[in-house]
Amino acid sequence: MASVPSLASSVNQRVADALVSALPEAGAADPLLRRSDRADFQANGILALAKKAKANPRELATTVVGGIPTGGEGDVIREIEVSGPGFLNITVSDRAIIETLAARAGDDRLGVPFSPNAGTTVIDYAQPNVAKEMHVGHLRSAVIGAAMVEILEFTGEKVVRRHHIGDWGTQFGMLIQFLIEHPHELDHKAAGAEADIEVSGEEAMSNLNRLYKASRALFDSDEEFKTRARARVVDLQAGDAETLAMWQRFVDESKIYFYSVFDKLDMDIQDADVVGESGYNDMLTETCKLLEDSGVAVRSNGALCVFFDEYKGPDGNPTPLIVQKSDGGFGYAATDLSAIRDRVGGLKASTLIYVVDARQSLHFKMVFETARRAGWLNEDVQAVQLAFGTVLGKDGKPFKTREGETVRLVDLLDEAVDRATAVVREKAEKVGLSEAEIVENGRFVGIGAVKYADLSTSAARDYKFDLDQMVSLNGDTSVYLQYAYARIRSILRKAAEAGDRTPVAHPELELAPAERALGLHLDQFGELIAEAAAEHAPHKLAAYLYQLSSLFTTFYDQCPVIKPEPELVVGENRLFLCDLTARTLTKGMSLLGIRTPERL
Ligand code: ARG
Repeated sequence: MASVPSLASSVNQRVADALVSALPEAGAADPLLRRSDRADFQANGILALAKKAKANPRELATTVVGGIPTGGEGDVIREIEVSGPGFLNITVSDRAIIETLAARAGDDRLGVPFSPNAGTTVIDYAQPNVAKEMHVGHLRSAVIGAAMVEILEFTGEKVVRRHHIGDWGTQFGMLIQFLIEHPHELDHKAAGAEADIEVSGEEAMSNLNRLYKASRALFDSDEEFKTRARARVVDLQAGDAETLAMWQRFVDESKIYFYSVFDKLDMDIQDADVVGESGYNDMLTETCKLLEDSGVAVRSNGALCVFFDEYKGPDGNPTPLIVQKSDGGFGYAATDLSAIRDRVGGLKASTLIYVVDARQSLHFKMVFETARRAGWLNEDVQAVQLAFGTVLGKDGKPFKTREGETVRLVDLLDEAVDRATAVVREKAEKVGLSEAEIVENGRFVGIGAVKYADLSTSAARDYKFDLDQMVSLNGDTSVYLQYAYARIRSILRKAAEAGDRTPVAHPELELAPAERALGLHLDQFGELIAEAAAEHAPHKLAAYLYQLSSLFTTFYDQCPVIKPEPELVVGENRLFLCDLTARTLTKGMSLLGIRTPERL
């Protein structure tokens, strides 16, 4: 495994070196290299440096250019010229492009370096609520979180996953009490005498739904039941064994359902990483005591509150973070503060990421600020909410069924797979797919479509859930990328069958413009990964991959690979570009959690 410096970084280094010789006081100044339409790269940094040094920018640029060797056999830079008031237009040599790509191809990681400042990230994502149906909000958290996990791990970051499921709170009093009074309500039809029959996620959820509705109805209509349910909350918090055992049944039943949905989502969630709200129960009292003793939180009308000057309600009064209610109950905030203590103090996180709906932003601002005041977060720890926007229906309003209910995530996923299967089936005969392959590809395409739609806009933005658009073969969709991948694989198979051509890099060749454009883009993969990781921006990876496919399409239109048959070395070099494109695509897609079938 050897990391390969990108052409951009090599060029940047050469310009920086020449800059220091031309203007020693510039020190380690950044020439600000960017990809450019006019040449391969443009350096924009000289202007500002010249101004600072009171030098003439064009003269400085000319001296810099004079100090850079170009055009020779071993020179990365083929041509460099001063343009405008003091920019540099830089073209790299064809040889340097293919040599760099060949080095990438020779590495398992495609030459992508490990981050020099890797640390430990604890990421809080995929956090549905016990006894409740999963909805599109949970989809977003799961999909964005899983992509961030993969991207970060690829950079060498140590990642600890935390699925902060909603498995605690007063609603459990009602549920548990009901179950104690109706002990068979969670039994499984299918299970019968044999306990090892697998219960489906559907059945688990329908059991929970039925129980939830029935207990709610009783709670709202029967005062005595309400009293018993409230007493049950106290038992739960006190750790009463029978109550906890009943509570555990709800959690287990819900997990059957959660895992069935994660499985549908083609997502690997490990039980050890599911540490829900209940996991911090033992810390809550201490968390509150520490906050109160240090004066970070104060009692206000009996409740333990943290106040902030900057957060005010519509009436102008400060909105506090309530850590403990006046009746002694702990809320969402106490749990999140305790989780921070555990994640920083115990798990030694250097970064905390919370993939949570933007509508919870105020909560996280207040929680982070409180943790800073308490000293649980310091300058060495970065805490961020990777906030995501709302999923909208085609009408642009928050996604609801016609009856105004939240849409069940499973229904959406099933529909996506159905539609995708139809799309796959249309082409299946031509490709020669078996029925089993059609079914499998339908799943990969349908689930990929849903994930990609979510990942291809920046997380903070709302987006419309439009299945027609998502499974469309044209445009910025995963299907388009999956077809591009399958097409390349088919080209490579055909070449292999023909026998005389294999992918071989030929640095001695002159490249066509479409080959250069594709090559330079392939070379940027590592930098793109670093950027997506640092900015917590999986959408940048999606955009990169889409552009890669587009550049490949142009290349394939303009540069014959198999027919009409190009000269042998040219054909081999083009197959090499095909191969590296396919490898980069499948790697990038897998980081987004999307499969790339070999034949489609
Ligand atoms: N269960 C919550 C919900 O469904 C999300 C939990 C987010 N994570 C956290 N640490 N608060 O909205």
